[in-house]
Amino acid sequence: MDAKKDFPCLNQKMNGLSPVYLDSACMSLKPQCVIDKMIEYYAQYSGCGGRSAHKFSFRTTDEVTKARENIAVFIGAKKPEQVIFTKNTTESINLVAKSFKFKPTDIVLTTDKEHNSNLVPWMLMDKSNAVKHKTIASKQDGSFDIELFKEMMEKEKNIKMVALNHVSNIDGYKNPIKDIVEIAHDNNAVVLLDGAQSVPHTKIDVERMDIDFLAFSGHKMCGPTGTGVLYGKEELLNELNPFIVGGDTVETVDGDRITFLGIPEKFEAGLQDYAGIIGFGEAARYLSNIGIEKIEKYVNDLNIYLDEKMKSIENVKIIGPADPKKRSGITNAIIDNINSHEIAMYLDEVKNVMVRDGAHCVHSWYNKTKTRASLRASLYLYNDKSDIDAYVDGLKEYIGLVKQENNFAN
Ligand SMILES: Cc1ncc(COP(=O)(O)O)c(C=O)c1O
Repeated sequence: MDAKKDFPCLNQKMNGLSPVYLDSACMSLKPQCVIDKMIEYYAQYSGCGGRSAHKFSFRTTDEVTKARENIAVFIGAKKPEQVIFTKNTTESINLVAKSFKFKPTDIVLTTDKEHNSNLVPWMLMDKSNAVKHKTIASKQDGSFDIELFKEMMEKEKNIKMVALNHVSNIDGYKNPIKDIVEIAHDNNAVVLLDGAQSVPHTKIDVERMDIDFLAFSGHKMCGPTGTGVLYGKEELLNELNPFIVGGDTVETVDGDRITFLGIPEKFEAGLQDYAGIIGFGEAARYLSNIGIEKIEKYVNDLNIYLDEKMKSIENVKIIGPADPKKRSGITNAIIDNINSHEIAMYLDEVKNVMVRDGAHCVHSWYNKTKTRASLRASLYLYNDKSDIDAYVDGLKEYIGLVKQENNFAN
């Protein structure tokens, strides 16, 4: 894979060194074609979409339509209108939480490994008695307990929605979605899939996978910041109440009567982030052109290399599946006697190596399992072996310095 050249952030020197970016599970970098597409909007036709009768507005509308089509094709949606633009995965999940017609006795089931974005909305709704929230515990090794799930679904008749991540941002573990969807549907529950970590890395076909709702972010898949999508089955989207309302969501207002537009408009209130949406569409086109299967294989192979190198360091524990091909480009580690934040700061300051430390917005899981803050390297198509060498060399160097200091202190 020769993608590095496409990403201007990586083709610069900082303190004489190239940047090494290993934080793509948080946010991906943007290729030149996405940046160009956004500049083109601002420089050539920065009108509003869908409203005014002039050339800039027509072009904006056309480009937004194309972006919606590109993204619909990318995830295998039947119709582009099933792609609702939002700010990010978080907003997409909140849209479902606030708009789905729950009864107070309905239950939303999540796993115990959810990002706060797919946990806090349900916790708050539970606290206000809008719905009940329950959690299914993972197995000891962090994998999904399908037997327990089946048992819960069959016993607990009020589970209306199963809202879970496809790929965990803690350890890259991929939940067995085919089986989960089948069991959920057999028990009259809908599935809201948090695809923040999966859509950028693996082939998603919402039709074939029979997914009811899918939330994901553009900024994790080479798209602009502040862009996301909620996909939904048409009949379910039609049933949802709009969440944020106002301009562009209504067909007309007459006296006290409001007639809302259909999908996607009823969910996209106010003037939109046109540059962002158009850039997001370009990102989907860019990834499609390379091929998501090719990217997945490349990232998995690179994670094998990273895993082998990490194992050459003493006292490293890697969270999640032992097989690096099953971690979706994530290698999240705890190193004995090493503070994850301090080592992350060292790597950044001295080596230009950018990783993420902490609880990765999954505080509930870190607290429940009494796991301390970890150091996560996450790979994408623009990384190569030289990035991993720089990371692991930096880790070894820092660990050596800490050992030296401890020897002095003793
Ligand atoms: C699994 C998962 N879900 C949800 C989110 C939230 O994404 P965003 O911040 O783009 O809304 C993230 C972000 O890291 C994530 O990894």
